[in-house]
Amino acid sequence: MEIELRLVPENKRRPVPELKNLIFGRLFTEHMFVMEYDCNRGWHSARIEPYGAITLDPAAIVLHYAQTIFEGLKAYFGVDGKIRLFRPWENMRRLNRSAERLCMPKIDEDFVLEAIKKLILIDRAWIPREKGAALYIRPFMFGTEPSLGVKPSHSYLLIVILSPVSAYYQEGFNPVKIYVTDEFVRAAPGGTGEVKAGGNYAASLKAAEVAKSKGYTQVLWLDAVERRYVEEVGTMNIFFYFEDELVTPALSGSILPGITRDSVIKLARHWGLPVSERRVSIEEVIEGAASGRLKECFGTGTAAVISPVGVLCYQGQEYLINRGETGPLARRLFDELTAIQYGEKEDPFGWTV
Ligand code: COI
Repeated sequence: MEIELRLVPENKRRPVPELKNLIFGRLFTEHMFVMEYDCNRGWHSARIEPYGAITLDPAAIVLHYAQTIFEGLKAYFGVDGKIRLFRPWENMRRLNRSAERLCMPKIDEDFVLEAIKKLILIDRAWIPREKGAALYIRPFMFGTEPSLGVKPSHSYLLIVILSPVSAYYQEGFNPVKIYVTDEFVRAAPGGTGEVKAGGNYAASLKAAEVAKSKGYTQVLWLDAVERRYVEEVGTMNIFFYFEDELVTPALSGSILPGITRDSVIKLARHWGLPVSERRVSIEEVIEGAASGRLKECFGTGTAAVISPVGVLCYQGQEYLINRGETGPLARRLFDELTAIQYGEKEDPFGWTV
């Protein structure tokens, strides 16, 4: 399939604003990639066009039954002037796993990745140059068929938009305070927790608001069955560094298989650190925090890369981790991953494209 280019004429383009102190996901570039699907034609009408509003029928299935999935990845402006993507094939594969789970059509992974590269090159002036800043790439797909019947849509849109984002840590790499919720759950076995479905995020809002109202940055999610085993933190995967073992909850079916999660596991193993993917109970975490066996705790995700956890609140009691400070392992992982992403260091895993 050809990608039609309907570009904004050079002399009509918005001047690129100063790409500093950006609020995550508020500013968008000049163009977007759009592709349409219907049952008769399959994917068609691929194009890069001016970023802007789209029209949807008020009965579009996505608006009623949340048949929508997304991905998130970044383009980094390297110290050598090259633009790099970090493991983008993993995002393409996960998009297809999400599509499969929500009864949506598969995409051609090569084609969509090529389209993303084209779009980035067209809007390359919007890639921030500062270390830590990047161009966030948001591919998403949703059901557009006007129908109030609960069923998979017959038609879809796949859109990719780009948003320049600043370094996640404006004032340094500071640990966050986390509220352990045993009231709300993010995902249950057999549900959609292991794919990137929009509905997962809608369902998480209430717990995050409650945590914020109590003075915490995010929630720590426990499993839906026993409310005992740790699953994720906010929108991120979670790691615990117990003495000489780095632990992250095993992919249970309700945990999102994060690409940063996988990269941290591979990097730590490459350094010779024992890494376990297993069940971690909240009791083990609390006891470890109290005894000092738990050295560090951090979240991993595309947006923040590594986010240290300094305080956990569980059942009304606060527990300090590593005296509430950023630990050396979180720092080392952050430095190493970002060095690979910005081309400052050789990429021993072949992760960058
Ligand atoms: C991430 O941590 O990278 C995420 O998935 C957050 C995103 C929903 C903004």
